[in-house]
Amino acid sequence: STLTQDDKKRAVARKAIDFVPDDSIIGVGTGSTVNFFIDELARIKARIDGCVSSSDASTARLKAHGIPVYELSSVGELQVYIDGADEVNHSLHMIKGGGGALTREKIVASAAREFICIADEAKYVSKLGAFPVAVEVIPMARSVVARELVHLGGHPELRQGFTTDNGNLILDVHDLDILKPLEMETAINQIAGVVCCGIFARQHAHVLLLGADDGVKVIR
Ligand code: A5P
Repeated sequence: STLTQDDKKRAVARKAIDFVPDDSIIGVGTGSTVNFFIDELARIKARIDGCVSSSDASTARLKAHGIPVYELSSVGELQVYIDGADEVNHSLHMIKGGGGALTREKIVASAAREFICIADEAKYVSKLGAFPVAVEVIPMARSVVARELVHLGGHPELRQGFTTDNGNLILDVHDLDILKPLEMETAINQIAGVVCCGIFARQHAHVLLLGADDGVKVIR
């Protein structure tokens, strides 16, 4: 029996519940895999205190399930942050931001002791970069940042008709040669006008739950 991609997403979402500590506030990411996780979380909501959310979309879904959502600044360190990824490598560095929520995702991830990544096996790669790197930019800096990204070897493309939850723009950068994810993340972050980039090397995952045909693999 071959599982569909949604079956695999549902399986990792269910497995992630094992990593949810009792009586705690959970950091919640964004995307279709996380949506399955939020639906699983709803079944056990009585044993958690609530969530901190990384996007308006996740907040709406959590609240629709009656799960309390707190402001990050009003809570302390989170024990876990659970989110998907667009690509994840063997060191558990990731590319995220396909959904455009990368900045809030990185902020909430930085507040958590453990990042649990939930993904299907199609996203597990030996080298990052086939998926374009989203870069959130202050609108007035759009073309200066694009030129700097070309100097880094990329081909930036403005995400058309899209504004982030923070009121900024996204440049999707193709063809970056990401041999050293932490160095590339740092180089992009240093460009004036960049708010955040979709390489998660500093905020890498600690545990990867990977949905495969033969079940969920736990990779550390
Ligand atoms: C959102 O900005 C992204 O970082 C998502 O975490 C990522 O795109 C994964 O989404 P899916 O679970 O829908 O693939």
